[in-house]
Amino acid sequence: MIRHLDESALNSRQSIGWFDGYVRYLDQRILPHEITVIETDEWQNIYDAIKTLAVRGAPLIGISAAYGVAVAVHALPLDRNIRKVAIEVIDSLAQARPTAVNLTWALNKMRLVVDNTTKDDQLCSALLEEAVAIHDDDILRCESIAAEGQTVVPDGSNILTVCNTGFLATGGIGTAASIFYRAFDLGKKIHVYACETRPLLQGARLTVWEMSRANIPVTLMVDSAAAGLARDGNIDVCIIGADRVAANGDVANKIGSYQLALACKANDVPFYVAAPWSTIDTDCPDGDHIPIEERAAEEVTKIDKNTIHPDEISVYNPAFDRVPANLVSGIITEKGIHTPPYKFIRESK
Ligand code: MRU
Repeated sequence: MIRHLDESALNSRQSIGWFDGYVRYLDQRILPHEITVIETDEWQNIYDAIKTLAVRGAPLIGISAAYGVAVAVHALPLDRNIRKVAIEVIDSLAQARPTAVNLTWALNKMRLVVDNTTKDDQLCSALLEEAVAIHDDDILRCESIAAEGQTVVPDGSNILTVCNTGFLATGGIGTAASIFYRAFDLGKKIHVYACETRPLLQGARLTVWEMSRANIPVTLMVDSAAAGLARDGNIDVCIIGADRVAANGDVANKIGSYQLALACKANDVPFYVAAPWSTIDTDCPDGDHIPIEERAAEEVTKIDKNTIHPDEISVYNPAFDRVPANLVSGIITEKGIHTPPYKFIRESK
């Protein structure tokens, strides 16, 4: 079952939630033209939402998947093998997107609940509790990142960013964008330069929408304008999000992130990555081991359903970039700002 609801079905600055047996999420594919909340009680719809970027952003992908598991078992009668269904759904959801480690991070937590809950009649509620806990935990992590990041954003900063890292990308107020929200709330005069983020335009459609709604001064530009802006001295700091941080500090984030890092290095602009600990993959030694999602050619060959090239042409459409650690000034997490050499300790389960 899928229902389309209006914006009031979620709180302001809320991108997902659990409502009495249903998951509700903002459909980010059609923002900012339409603000539609989708309500569903079928995990397959959550899978599709992740795959098609109706929900997106590393932390939100993990939270969505956790709710997907909870909704899959929610109304199952006890004579169905709830344990088996939960594991099958966890395994399926894990395939939805490869790069953001938050997906497997959240699903591993759900798997642990299956393993540790011995009584079948308690499994549904235990899985729902865990999904809500994962969501609540992300809200707190976002708040802490917002506070930790203030030292890199002095009053008057011009800030460069790419993609969308705000409430649309997380369970809380955002990662990199949480720092912008907090700086603005503290009365700092900041200005955000948002790269449009071809091909799916998360910067143009989502970041500009979020910043404008919060009255934060924001300027939209094509991705290729960033280097010149940095060269001309118009950027004080660049802050981006991450989909996975490797143990050595290499970062995977939206395509275009590497060229921003290079432009910042060449022009002595500090380049920071903001991410919760759930995005740090201590099992991944370096960026070369981070799987990079390649998406459909038509994301590039079409603009707003208008074909700019026939589909037969060869297209390279990686959704993410790898940014080497030597280009990163620091990684802003809820536990402080980490600088090289990185020694990330695995979180206890
Ligand atoms: O393909 P997307 O839109 O899911 O990519 C999102 C990003 O690259 C974000 O920068 C990243 O997930 C950090 S979100 C807080």
